[in-house]
Amino acid sequence: MLEGKRILLGVTGGIAAYKAVEAVSRLRKAGAEVRVIMTREATEFVTELTFREISGNPVTVDMWAPVQHWNVAHIALAEWADAVLVAPATANVLAKAALGVADDMLTTTLLAVTAPIFFAPAMNCNMFAHPAVQQNIKTLEARGTHIIAPGTGKLACGAEGPGRLAEPEEIVSALEKFFAEGAQLSGVKVLVTAAGTIEPIDPVRYIGNRSSGRMGYALAEEAVARGADVVLVSGPSALTPPAGLQEFISVETAQEMREAVLREAETSRVIVKAAAVADYHPRTVSDQKIKKGDEELSIILEKNPDILKELGQKKRPGQILVGFAAETQNLLQYAREKIEKKNLDFIVANDVTKPGAGFNTATNLVKIISRDGEIEELPMMTKKEVAKRIFDRVLPEDLKSRK
Ligand code: PMT
Repeated sequence: MLEGKRILLGVTGGIAAYKAVEAVSRLRKAGAEVRVIMTREATEFVTELTFREISGNPVTVDMWAPVQHWNVAHIALAEWADAVLVAPATANVLAKAALGVADDMLTTTLLAVTAPIFFAPAMNCNMFAHPAVQQNIKTLEARGTHIIAPGTGKLACGAEGPGRLAEPEEIVSALEKFFAEGAQLSGVKVLVTAAGTIEPIDPVRYIGNRSSGRMGYALAEEAVARGADVVLVSGPSALTPPAGLQEFISVETAQEMREAVLREAETSRVIVKAAAVADYHPRTVSDQKIKKGDEELSIILEKNPDILKELGQKKRPGQILVGFAAETQNLLQYAREKIEKKNLDFIVANDVTKPGAGFNTATNLVKIISRDGEIEELPMMTKKEVAKRIFDRVLPEDLKSRK
């Protein structure tokens, strides 16, 4: 997975800098090309010469060193990289990156990079636990930066706890996993639905639900990260569609969602339906605002088409169809019935009664149930993490054999 990949390594000033030397060696053995930027402080721990020899490339430290080629060095390195790894990442570099400070070659380059960035923190355990450091890590993660978690054990300072730089093989395998996932769905069209539909009553009122779109948008983002051509069909949502979509289709009603989904499904290999589609719509939509009148007002509702069921009926041999089940009771029983009724490959069963799970939350609590009845029970995790676990099940071998 690392063959031919261009990895830009940032080394900052920590005792673990010596381990970064081995990481470079392993990256090169795996076929990657490595260039190194060191902070001035890092050179106090390991020499430039060591990294130059082990990487086989000149090492950059100083913003103001005489230029070897006529280009702007931090921009050229930023554009060159397929991925950037900062190891060891000190509390200082995490803080600067979180704030966007650019006061040396490494931090300036980090601002110019558009490739994925990995930080492998290493520091004293009390420093690592400090709320400022944890907040900076959260900020970086929220921006899509990857954190390679430090190990726990005896630290160079004598203390014991989390803060030890991840082992070089763990660092390399995090990069391998990233590139493997990035290629997993390359060239595969994935259709995702998100958010709730709204069903108009009159020009100013509608029947809706509490779906924010967060689960579906996280799924679309994850599919993009894995190299898929992603079409996202979304009901109204306050979220910004993820970058890198092939197409974003905004709809309001279940009928509009059905039309878009059935059209796109014809050319999609994977379909994941996280949208909360209204099961009913008002039979008549008043073309004027309904005026306040009697004590009671009845609205007759008519059933909407079940889009997922239709997709299941029309499923082509090469397609993988994934549904969600949002339930407030009998979760497993209802979810299993939906697998059968809607001809799904697997279903994500969502107990929406639990705090932190279901509608309009950053986290979710789900069980993934496959067609053969196997249940994977996941702990409470972010919707981004749930999206990862869902796409971990969409395997390239499966896609090949289903062609
Ligand atoms: O958007 P968030 O705020 O992040 O919330 C996420 C979520 C709770 C909406 C999501 O995790 C979820 O559970 N989505 C499914 C919601 C739902 O409508 O479930 P359901 O059990 O009613 O429907 C089962 C499946 O059939 C779903 O895949 C649904 O998209 C689909 N369906 C339902 C009705 C219908 N008329 N057509 C459909 O295609």
